[in-house]
Formats: sequence, structure tokens, C-alpha cells
Amino acid sequence: MLRIGMLTSGGDCQALNAAMRGVVKGICSKRDDVEIYGFKDGYKGLIYADFSMLTSKDFSGILTRGGTILGTSRQPFKLMRVPDKDGLDKVEAMKHTYHKLNLNCLVILGGNGTHKTANMLREEGLNVITLPKTIDNDLWGTEMTFGFQSAVDIATDTIDRIHTTATSHSRVFIIEVMGHKVGHVTLHAGIAGGADIILIPEIPYDIKSIAKVIEGRSKAGKPFTILAVAEGAISKEDAKLKKKEYKEKLEKRKYPSIAYELAEQIEKETDKEVRITVPGHTQRGGSPCAYDRVFATRVGAKAAELILKEQYGYMVAMKNGETTKVPLADVAGKLKTVDPKCSIIKEARMIGISFGDE
Ligand code: F6P
Repeated sequence: MLRIGMLTSGGDCQALNAAMRGVVKGICSKRDDVEIYGFKDGYKGLIYADFSMLTSKDFSGILTRGGTILGTSRQPFKLMRVPDKDGLDKVEAMKHTYHKLNLNCLVILGGNGTHKTANMLREEGLNVITLPKTIDNDLWGTEMTFGFQSAVDIATDTIDRIHTTATSHSRVFIIEVMGHKVGHVTLHAGIAGGADIILIPEIPYDIKSIAKVIEGRSKAGKPFTILAVAEGAISKEDAKLKKKEYKEKLEKRKYPSIAYELAEQIEKETDKEVRITVPGHTQRGGSPCAYDRVFATRVGAKAAELILKEQYGYMVAMKNGETTKVPLADVAGKLKTVDPKCSIIKEARMIGISFGDE
């Protein structure tokens, strides 16, 4: 008997269901003696032994469905070793559930935080295979994560729609894009949507150079400007602060997010009217795009292959367009950021996109 535990953890995204479907189809096409334990709401289900027994039928018809049929939750890694309110040791509880159910392995779908816990469970002796899930595309060791391309499509659609109204009113528009501490989604959506200025955390901006671009465009007969701004974008000034100082500054910020702070500064520096659009969680919602459906199916099938070969302790990754495996120990705790010197940035600059830094 092959007993597989499965859970989805962290923020949801498109193609989680498609990836699980890939794993289950891959395994069930080769073996009949399979038991699937679906843990509810991420690691919470593993801690409190909250699970359902699933069959391959439960994974049929979910290729296109957004969200996750298992539910998810955020269980911060730093709190994993802290007992819960009833004094329960969460790590021991997860191990207990795993051993009590006599599982052969755990399939864990998640992003950065999830991978730290997955690696800890591996170190504790559990068999773990992970799949790279996040719209942020910030997982080290893989060139792609599922959810990313769908989020880029949605943010691009927002920028497209804003373009027409920005042009009609000769306004400056800020579209604030998700991405946590990195700028992959903003960079791609910004280029795809024809943004004039792209601000990402990896390239700190200067408000004066943003104002210069906006005024330069007005003088050239383009009285509107579109800014694609990553939620984690940072000014040159703030980038000089120590991590702790910047965190404190953010806590005291009078605005809900960077877009509002920027809007006020741009209105001060120019004579333009500024508007803000925040697509927010729509970027994680709805059906996965075709790319994500294919990608999630491929990494799911690769996970099935590894499980059937009893090769554990890996994240399934994509390298040069091929699926592969990367040791979990190498992935955990590392962030894949945008390299400011990479060719996509150079190409964007080449066609006149400003990163607000010159
Ligand atoms: O990691 C995915 C992500 O959507 C980030 O881009 C964003 O910063 C964060 O999750 C939002 O988290 P929550 O869903 O908890 O508000």
C-alpha cells in the first residue's frame, strides 16, 4: 500500500488543484494500491490530524478550478516551534499524525515559508516532496512557480484597462502589483501592459527621477503616465535604512501601502492628478491560465515519478524548460529576487521604460 499525505500551505494561487491532479493521476495510472490523505488548511490539518480520505475521483474535473480543494492557511515557520494555546508541540504533533497514519510520504505545495517547514519535517525524518507554488515566483532553485503567469495576466489586464482611462483624462496612474518582497510579477506585467515606469524592490527609486519622466512625457505630448509599482517597492533613501529601522518606518506609515505614499509625492513634485488602482487578491483568484495548467500538470507528474521511485527530500523545479528535482535543503530560506543587471531589465530600459532610478 502507498499512503500519501497531501497539503497546500500559504497564500493560495491558481493551479494548486491542477498540480495535485497531476500528482494523483501520475501515481494512480501506475498503482492501484494508493491511499490519499488530504490535510485540511495546510499544516494545520497535519498538526490537528484534520484530514479526509480522497480518491482519484476527487481530483477529476479540477484542472481549471482556482483556489485549493484542500483549503490553506498561513502557519509562520518562526511559530512552528512555539507550542499552541493548549501547549501542544506542533512539530511533534505533525510527526505523530504522519506516523500514526503510516504515511509513505507527504506532498506539500507551497511557497517560501512552506518550504522552510517542509525542510524541517525532512530533517525530522519524514519523507517529503514539495511543489513550487506562488504568484511571486520568488522560490530559489526553480525558474518558474505556478500561479505566477496567471497573476501576471491579471495584473496586465488591469494595466490595459487603466491605459484607456489614463489617456482620456491625461492622468498619472499607479497600479500596485503583488509580489511580496520581489518584483517578478510587476516587471512582467509592467512590460506586458506597456507601463512607462516600473518600480520594483530590487531597484530603489528616486522620486525626483520619477517626476522628471512624467514631466518629460508631458512635454513630448504624452500627458498621461502609467506606473506599475510592486507592493514592496522602496525609495533609495529608505533602502539605506537598516532592516529594523525600515520595518519601524513601515509600521508608522500613514498610508495603507506604497502606492498612496507615491501618489502624494508625485502630486507634490508635478502638476499632475494621480489615481491609484490596487488589483490585490484578484491576482491570485480565478482559473489558472493555460501556461500554469501545463506547468502545474508537469511538476505534479514529476512529483508522482519521484514518489514512485521513492526519491524524497526534493522540490520539483523547472530548469531550462525541463522538470527536475532540487534538494529541499538547498531551497529552504532562500529568495529568488530580480537581478537588476539581468537582460530583461536591460531590454526594458532599451525601449524607454524607466525604473525611477536615473
Ligand atoms: O505570496 C503571495 C502573496 O499574494 C504576496 O504577493 C502578498 O504580499 C501576500 O501573498 C498577501 O498575503 P495575504 O493573502 O495573507 O494577504
